[in-house]
Amino acid sequence: MLSRQLGKKLLEFETPFYLYDIALLRQTLESVAYESQRYGYKVHYAVKANYDDRLLAIIREYGIGIDCASGNELRKAIEAGFEPKGIVYAGVGKRDKELRYAISQDILAINCESVEELEVVNELAREAGRKVDIGLRINPDIDPKTNHCIDTGQADSKFGISYEEVLENAERIKSLENLNIVGVHLHIGSQIRELHVFENMCNKVNVIVRNLDSLGFSINFVDLGGGLGINYDMPENEPIPNFASFFAIVRNHLDIGDREVHFEFGRAIVGECGELITKVLFNKTTATGRRLVIVDASMTELIRPALYGSYHNIENITSEDAAEVKYTIVGTACESTDVFDENIGLRRTRRGDLLAIKSAGAYGMSMASRYNLHDIPSAVYSDDLL
Ligand code: LLP
Repeated sequence: MLSRQLGKKLLEFETPFYLYDIALLRQTLESVAYESQRYGYKVHYAVKANYDDRLLAIIREYGIGIDCASGNELRKAIEAGFEPKGIVYAGVGKRDKELRYAISQDILAINCESVEELEVVNELAREAGRKVDIGLRINPDIDPKTNHCIDTGQADSKFGISYEEVLENAERIKSLENLNIVGVHLHIGSQIRELHVFENMCNKVNVIVRNLDSLGFSINFVDLGGGLGINYDMPENEPIPNFASFFAIVRNHLDIGDREVHFEFGRAIVGECGELITKVLFNKTTATGRRLVIVDASMTELIRPALYGSYHNIENITSEDAAEVKYTIVGTACESTDVFDENIGLRRTRRGDLLAIKSAGAYGMSMASRYNLHDIPSAVYSDDLL
């Protein structure tokens, strides 16, 4: 783990900051590029996971496309030099302004999530004098066996069009003359560790594509979304997700002929390469005996524990004290849920020590806020250090 290797050298930087292990990012990209190319699969990076410019420039070197979720994410991708024909754009609520921009950029597909959205895109495309490539984001009703806060493909979810609705409105959808319905898109959730879930997903996609074929659609590609999880419990044991097993499952269960297959990974690409480095401000014990370590980061730099109860492994990277003590790690924000972890074992921790909050490369920086007028955290990159 990079922060442990660097230890006290990191004391010279103003905390809190994100530390990025660029070598690990590159190894991860090599792995995803190699394993996907074996089957001719196309990979997009879900830029919502982390839109850091330096990371994006590196990701682009590996021939990976982009999945975006807003007009600003799309603009970021275009400005970072990604080819429009490698960009997909999903989102349950796209504003007209965002849709007009996406239409003007001629991207691979706007993944539409309601029949009403399809009608609006058709109208905006007509106004622009264009025909637009569209993916139907279908809600496949699959339980991804993950934290309920981050599942997206169950029947009552706000995401995607229900499969039944697509079937009922098939003729209407086909008649929208400024749209080319070229793709089927789904994304069933995030941080999925039980790979058999992806088998179920492939089986559903096979049925969906077959039925759309028989209804007269011309589907050229399926986009299976992201969701591959990482090992938050023991990141050192698995710094790079097992892309080989994941793609092999898809290879063995997807049966859609020679159509293109796309993926949109966020966490699996950047999750493990980032750590949040924070300094201990104070120690105190509550009247109830809770031993608190108060650090200078908070939910404004990393909201996942406060928002979803998510676990991140934490380590004291500067203490030389062998004794382990149980602490509760809390942040500076004026919120009682601003707790990074409860009652965890750390080397004896004193004011000025640095803690590394691991596996924070995805949905850390990109979800930072300015609550309490905190500064947005800065970044330190390993290739500037080593
Ligand atoms: N494609 C779509 C349409 C998505 O909505 C997402 C994530 C992805 C791809 C990338 O998923 P990934 O490969 O990263 O699992 N903030 C939450 C995660 C929210 C995920 C939102 N959508 C967290 O910190 O766990």
